[in-house]
This record gives sequence, C-alpha cells and structure tokens, in this order.
Amino acid sequence: AQTVTRDAHGVVTVGGIGVKQLAEEFGTPAYILDEADFRARARAWRTAFGPGADVFYAGKAFLSRAVVRWLDEEGLNLDVCSGGELATALSGGMPADRIAFHGNNKSTAEIERAIRAGVGRIVLDSFQEIVRVAHIARSLGVRQRVQIRVTVGVEAHTHEFIATAHEDQKFGIPLAGGQAAEAVRRALQLDGLELIGIHSHIGSQIFDMSGFEVAAHRVVGLLREIRDEHGVELPEIDLGGGLGIAYTSDDDPREPHEIAKALTEIVGRECEAAGLRTPRISVEPGRAIVGPTAFTLYEVGTVKPLAGLRTYVSVDGGMSDNIRTALYDAEYSVALVSRASDAEPMLVRVVGKHCESGDIVVRDAFLPADLAPGDLIAVPATGAYCRSMASNYNHVPRPPVVAVRDGEARVIVRRETEEDLLRLDVG
Ligand code: LLP
Repeated sequence: AQTVTRDAHGVVTVGGIGVKQLAEEFGTPAYILDEADFRARARAWRTAFGPGADVFYAGKAFLSRAVVRWLDEEGLNLDVCSGGELATALSGGMPADRIAFHGNNKSTAEIERAIRAGVGRIVLDSFQEIVRVAHIARSLGVRQRVQIRVTVGVEAHTHEFIATAHEDQKFGIPLAGGQAAEAVRRALQLDGLELIGIHSHIGSQIFDMSGFEVAAHRVVGLLREIRDEHGVELPEIDLGGGLGIAYTSDDDPREPHEIAKALTEIVGRECEAAGLRTPRISVEPGRAIVGPTAFTLYEVGTVKPLAGLRTYVSVDGGMSDNIRTALYDAEYSVALVSRASDAEPMLVRVVGKHCESGDIVVRDAFLPADLAPGDLIAVPATGAYCRSMASNYNHVPRPPVVAVRDGEARVIVRRETEEDLLRLDVG
C-alpha cells in the first residue's frame, strides 16, 4: 500500500514528504507517485506468477523512462501499443526481446521499427496484419515471433468502452465460426512468422474472475484444435490484463497471487484434460500495478454552495488531467490533505477549470464544510489512465508526475509549459 500518513498538523505525507512541501516545490495540479509502492506491486505480480510465466506491464496505463527502468529492475516485461510507447520503452532501456507490440492498426513504419528493434513478440490483430507483418519480417530477413489475438465471446462486467472479449468490436479475431482457426492456418503457412501463441484480453477494471476462466478454457480449446489439425502445440498463451483496482471503498480487488493461482490452475487443468503440454502463461496488468500508486494533488480555487443541491469545489485541473469521470462515469474519492478539520462533512462535486459542465473529477463526495480556497485536496488511485490520457483542452499544460521515495521527490515527467504548447503552433 501507499506510504500515506498524516502528521501532527493533519498534513498528509507520502513517501516521507508532506503534500504542502510537494505543492510548493512542484506546483499543482501534480500526479504524486509512490515509487516504493509501484515497485512492490510490480514485484508482487512477478513473484505471484514465478519464473514459469511472464508479466508484461501494460504501458498504456502510464509510461515514462523511469517506469521502464523500475520494471526492468523488478524483472517485468513490457507491453506497448504504439510507436511512441515503443520509443519510450527502448529509450528507458527495456531489452527489446522483453517487449510485446500490440494494436489493431499498427502502421507499416511501426511494424518495421519493432521488427528491426527485435521485439519479443508482435500480437496480430487481423488477417491483413498477419500478411503485413509476415511480409515485412521476410523483407528484413527475420522470422518474427507472433501471437494471434482472439475474441473469446465472453461479456466482461465492466464499462462498454473498455470491454474487449465480446465479438462485436474492433479488437482481435473471433473464435466463432472458425475465424481464429483460419488465422492460425494462415500464420503457420507464412515463413516470416513464428507463431508462438494465442492472446486474449477480455477488458479492463474487472473484479469477477469467471470471465478469465471462460477465456482460458476457450483459448485452450483452440490450442487443442491446432494440435489436432496441424500437429503443433503452441508454447504460450497470454490472458491479457484487466484486473480491477479499488477506486472507492466499495471495490474489492483480487490480489496478484489469487489471480496467478486461479489462472495457472485452470490452464493446467484444461491442458491436462486435452492432453496438451501446459503452455507458458503471460499476463498484462497495467492499472493493477500503477493505478493505486499515485494520487492527483489539486489546490482548491473556489467553493460554491448551491442551496438545496450541493457545493461545487473547483480545482486547478480537471478533465484534461483526468478524463475518466467524464468518459466512463468513473468513481473517485477525495480528501482534504493540507490540514486537519473537525467541520461537518458537506456534499460536494469536485470540478475542474475547463469550459464545459461535464468537467467533473469526483461526482459525489464529502469534504469538510470549512473547505476554503488554498486548501489542498487529493484524488487517490489516479496512477493509471490519467496522465496517459491527459489532454491540452483549453490549452492547459499537462501536470508533472513526481515520484516520491524515502523522503525524496523527483520529477519523472515534467510539467508542460505554455512554450511547449506554442512550440507546436507554427502558423
Ligand atoms: N493488454 C491489452 C491488450 C490491453 O488492451 C490492455 C488495456 C491491457 C493489457 C491492460 O489493461 P489493465 O490491466 O490496465 O486493465 N482507458 C481505460 C482503460 C483502457 C484499457 C485498454 N487496454 C480506462 O481508463 O479505464
């Protein structure tokens, strides 16, 4: 867990540093990331799965060079899904053979770059991509290790935009109607490709393990079909990411060791029943590693009580640093962190500074009734998909990511400046 405590004055400290000092030194808003917590979570996944499996951190959740170094040191691999993420991974020193390259529409240039760099696997997402990657690999004189991403047809219980195993969506090749089997047939025929396994990612922010179990069952079913038809036992399966984290106290996340145990058991059991050698399992957690490790520190600008409704608390960021509330109806909590207060709780909505009414950070929460401009408030669990999905809406520069550890703070992604924004404007 995060090393969060309150000092004698009610000031929250993290990694041994008070939030007032952090705000003074780095400004607000800022993402404050607890490095020890990040490393501990990464290590917990690594340990839970052990040497017989691979953990690929999903870089889309949050990626920077420092993060890449931590992952490398903790023995994790890395999943990237664009040329930009690949560039960051390589620049941070991740060995290319520990990188997996994803995406439903990788460009020819991206594919070429990934193959030249020597990525450990490319996850193929369509029939056209199978041919495209095979062609590029061949022209480079490489036999590229690949997996085929399939959709197993389970409905993950999560928001529609982040569910990915049902068939009516853009990712993967459906198992249904023999389409995935046909994709395997084609991949096995192309000498630019070495098909090492099957990939399934059922969605994100999931608590119920049954979706993963159904996915594992169906993927093993495909491995058996492949063995029966081609006499080949594919050596790997990847079951994707998607483990949910606690955004509010209502959420009850599974621990990495529970997940590892459940997945290893079901794959083992299914393979034994099918007479298959158990493949090497890999997983791709993003949110579950980085999500809980950071909070966003904001300064309160205005407090506007609307009689009979609620009080609107405006902070110095908003939907440009956290789009998740507006986009997915995501729930967050919030706390006053710069002082203690005995005041009664009041119902608030924490909103940003952007020019639209949907600019909500925390829809419903309680903060002390004496809340005032200048107070610092923190929104926890913003490590995943906040900085990585941040925008410059209203030409607001994006906040920095500050890593804290053992009483020291350092910027790992600096704050954007107005000059950064103007540099792109060449008209
Ligand atoms: N592997 C693949 C192939 C994925 O597409 C994803 C997430 C992951 C792994 C990591 O999933 P995680 O463990 O982080 O749930 N922006 C959305 C989440 C989109 C997830 C996209 N893919 C959000 O803010 O909730």
